[in-house]
Amino acid sequence: MKVLIVGSGGREHAIAASVAKSPRVDKIYCTPGNAGIGQIAECVPIGAMEFDKIVEFAKEQAIDLTIVGMDDPLVGGLVDEMEAAGLRVFGPRKNAAILEGSKAFSKDLMKKYNIPTAAYENFDDPQAALVYLETAKMPVVLKADGLALGKGVLICQTLEEAKEGVRTIMEDKKFGAAGNRMVIEEFMTGREVSVLSFVDGRTIRIMSSAQDHKRAQDGDRGLNTGGMGTFSPSPFYTEEVDAFCKEHIYQATVDAMAAEGRPFHGVIFFGLMLTQDGPRVLEYNARFGDPEAQVVLPRMKNDIIEVAEACIDGTLDQIDLQFEDNAAVCVVLASEGYPVSYEKGFLINGLERFVGSDDYYCFHAGTKQTEQGIVTNGGRVLGVTAKGKDLKEARANAYEATKWISFDNKYMRNDIGKAIDEA
Ligand code: AMP
Ligand code: GLY
Repeated sequence: MKVLIVGSGGREHAIAASVAKSPRVDKIYCTPGNAGIGQIAECVPIGAMEFDKIVEFAKEQAIDLTIVGMDDPLVGGLVDEMEAAGLRVFGPRKNAAILEGSKAFSKDLMKKYNIPTAAYENFDDPQAALVYLETAKMPVVLKADGLALGKGVLICQTLEEAKEGVRTIMEDKKFGAAGNRMVIEEFMTGREVSVLSFVDGRTIRIMSSAQDHKRAQDGDRGLNTGGMGTFSPSPFYTEEVDAFCKEHIYQATVDAMAAEGRPFHGVIFFGLMLTQDGPRVLEYNARFGDPEAQVVLPRMKNDIIEVAEACIDGTLDQIDLQFEDNAAVCVVLASEGYPVSYEKGFLINGLERFVGSDDYYCFHAGTKQTEQGIVTNGGRVLGVTAKGKDLKEARANAYEATKWISFDNKYMRNDIGKAIDEA
């Protein structure tokens, strides 16, 4: 069969690598893809938001299955447009992708269905938000309602900061239309865990847990990024946590969406905080995490095509989702200066060492094929992933493999997975 993947990051490379393992797949296309994806798929220069062109391409090529990796096209309704053209697509429709597309929607859903999350209020009007803050407990968390590249969340220590934050989001529109509405919520503390799941409208199957490292520098200092590295599974995701989430969060979310007439087919990503009072939902995403996919998918034993089709057809109850009994760590190699400003266009050496391995992967994020070879083309350049029998070994392997790669201005965190020492 022919499979099309929509997106261009490390997550889409990890999806493509999983798809390539399926004996049922003859040909993979990716719109627009990147240099690494180009080694296992045919990259087609169509942007992820060019819906008409994607639909036309998929019809022309008689694509059997499309997998949408990115949030923007999902929230924008690419799945609906492809389905209307008679194409098979893995991913939520627009009315379900709102779970990620609107934080106000997801908070209201959790409140209505008693799914544990931080206390909050939604605001359309900056004046009302400013009045509310006068009596709010500090620190407080401000969230732009819509998609903001993971940057629309402000944690404010003082009333002054919080007021400034409201102006930044709702008046200066720093995150664009995402800030037309805003959520103000209670600040919580605890470890964060990412739990990805497959959902077919009714049934949910949980993947192995993971943890991201969002800050740019060692010791969780510096600015927020798209993610500097991950490990899976999380040793903090204990059986007790799992049991709580199964009882109060996972199925409850799927049932709530169905009850609202928004059945969810695709991947739900639960961003959880393990607080002293138990697990709470920080956020939902309507897709695989990046770079969570880079440590979770290489450990999945199932054929991703079978699982994706079961999600579309509503037969996930017949799938026994299984993961290898090992661990994986992904260290992101970035360009010095990311996430603020950085140079591009430096030649990357050492990529060939990863080819064909089942234990080491080098997922491309910001890379470009040129006549001279593959060069850096973004802030996050590569995600070096290694497996090991346990997290310690996987971490040692991943850091060893980061040495195989060289390019000018290479930057990485040196403490990805360090938290496991405390487990
Ligand atoms: P979100 O995009 O909603 O996941 O928020 C991004 C990050 O902000 C999370 O990964 C947390 O580190 C932090 N965050 C979000 N909400 C809260 C909260 N209520 N309390 C503390 N930290 C939070
Ligand atoms: N790693 C977090 C995300 O994909 O949103």
